[in-house]
This record gives sequence, structure tokens and C-alpha cells, in this order.
Amino acid sequence: MERVHENQVIIVTGGAQGIGLQISLHLEKLGARVIIADINIEAAKQAVEKLSNRNGMAVFCDVTSEEATIKMAENVMNAYGRIDALINNAGCFPVKLFSDMTLQEWKNVIDIDLTGTFLATKAVYKYMEKQKKGKIVNMASISGRVGGWGFAHYSAAKAGVIGFTKALAREAGPLGIQVNAVAPGIIDTDTTKKVFPSYSLKEYTKNVPLGRLGCEEDLQGVISFLCSPGSNYMTGQVLTVDGGYTMI
Ligand SMILES: NC(=O)c1ccc[n+]([C@@H]2O[C@H](COP(=O)([O-])OP(=O)(O)OC[C@H]3O[C@@H](n4cnc5c(N)ncnc54)[C@H](O)[C@@H]3O)[C@@H](O)[C@H]2O)c1
Repeated sequence: MERVHENQVIIVTGGAQGIGLQISLHLEKLGARVIIADINIEAAKQAVEKLSNRNGMAVFCDVTSEEATIKMAENVMNAYGRIDALINNAGCFPVKLFSDMTLQEWKNVIDIDLTGTFLATKAVYKYMEKQKKGKIVNMASISGRVGGWGFAHYSAAKAGVIGFTKALAREAGPLGIQVNAVAPGIIDTDTTKKVFPSYSLKEYTKNVPLGRLGCEEDLQGVISFLCSPGSNYMTGQVLTVDGGYTMI
């Protein structure tokens, strides 16, 4: 396997489990030094143990805290002296009908999924500006494009992530920083199994042309591509990985 990420310093927020963990393992296997930045520091430390070359570190980071995100970026700069890419993957997706949704539940999802993306980006941006180089990849969702049942808060947050990606791409491009997003369909993670009843996953799968849910590994290639030189002339893009479910 070609080591396309040799020596790159890549931060993955929410990298301790699920999609973020698989992305971290993959990028590190291809040569990156991976920083697993997660609110669950114990799980993040265990994730670092799983890296094939142990080439990386775990850093505590609550993406809803400005102070924590700034400190996380400082820690990375102190350890490695630069930041080549940031994967804004930390997120949550609790299902709640709008009629039952409280303001606090709304705010919680917006804070983690949207404001968390803003804060982590803000924390690394000044370093990327100085480097005149950097790649930011935001984890959106097809819910941010087509809406999801029980997902008023989540769809709003992920649509916000898509808008943020495009707006920032315009400002960041002239500075040498690329900003892109990935919009997955339903990916079969442990959290997915807790959030969705199995019958609704079966119903959803009937409308997926590729005939199955996504798996965590399905996102590795596209994220790797967006962090590699192969995507150097791309910015403001949202790449959908949903087995053909939406086709938009
Ligand atoms: N699983 C899916 O079907 C699916 C589909 C589309 C998009 N996504 C998006 O992909 C991302 C990962 O999803 P997943 O299924 O792997 O989720 P997951 O629940 O398995 O993992 C989320 C990770 O984020 C961390 N996290 C949560 N709050 C945090 C905070 N405040 N600060 C830092 N870290 C925090 C958790 O500790 C965990 O390690 C999310 O942004 C999610 O919205 C998932």
C-alpha cells in the first residue's frame, strides 16, 4: 500500500471510536502521524494503542469548548510543529421527534456537530495560515442534504456544516487551505445500532442501490483522498458516500 500520508500530521476529532477510529487507523497505516482528539480520553488512549506503528497521540478535546480546542491545537504544535490536516469528525446523532425536542436537545446537537466544527477549525486555522497550507475535512451527512426523520437538530447542524465548508473554502483558498466535506449515508457503527431500530435500518437498506449499509471502512478512501495531494485542486466540495441512496 502506498504511504501517501508519509509524515503528515493529521488531527481526527472524535477519533476514539466508530468512523473516526477507522479513519485514524487507515491514515496512520499510510504514513500519517495521527492525533486522536476526543472527549473520551481513555478511549482515545486505547485507540492510539491500536495504531499499527503507534505513530500518533491521544489528546483530550471537547469540541464544544473554545479553550479545549485551542489547547488541543497547541499540544499538537508543541509535539509536531505543524498541522497538515484536520478531520472534523466528532459528532452525535440522537433521534428525536421535533414535537418532543427541547431547546437543550437542539442546542446539544448544534453545539457538538456544528459549533464543534467551527471551534476545532478556528483552533488549527491560524497555524495553517502561517504554513500557507492545510486540508480541512468536515464530516457532514446526507441528513444535511435531504433531511432525516427525527433529525431536525442534526439535519440543521449538518446542513450548517455544508454551508460552513463552502463559505470557508472561498476565504481559505487564497491562503492555501482547502476545505471539503464528506456526506455519508447510514454507516453501521455501534452508535448507529443504538440510535436506529433494526427494522428501520432494514427499510432504509431497501432503497440503497448498493444493497447494504455503509461500514466504517467505506469512508477511509475518500477521507484519505481529501488529505492527499490527489485532491490538491479541490475545495468547497461535498463528497457523498451513501451507496447511491441520494444521488444528488
Ligand atoms: N454513523 C453514521 O451512520 C453516520 C452517518 C453520517 C454521518 N455521520 C457522522 O460521522 C461522525 C462519526 O459518527 P460515528 O457513527 O462514528 O459516531 P460515534 O458515536 O461512534 O463516535 C463519535 C465520537 O465523537 C466523540 N465525541 C462526542 N462528543 C464529542 C465532543 N464534544 N468533543 C470531542 N469528541 C466528541 C465520541 O467520544 C466518539 O469517539 C459524526 O459526525 C456523525 O454525525 C455518521
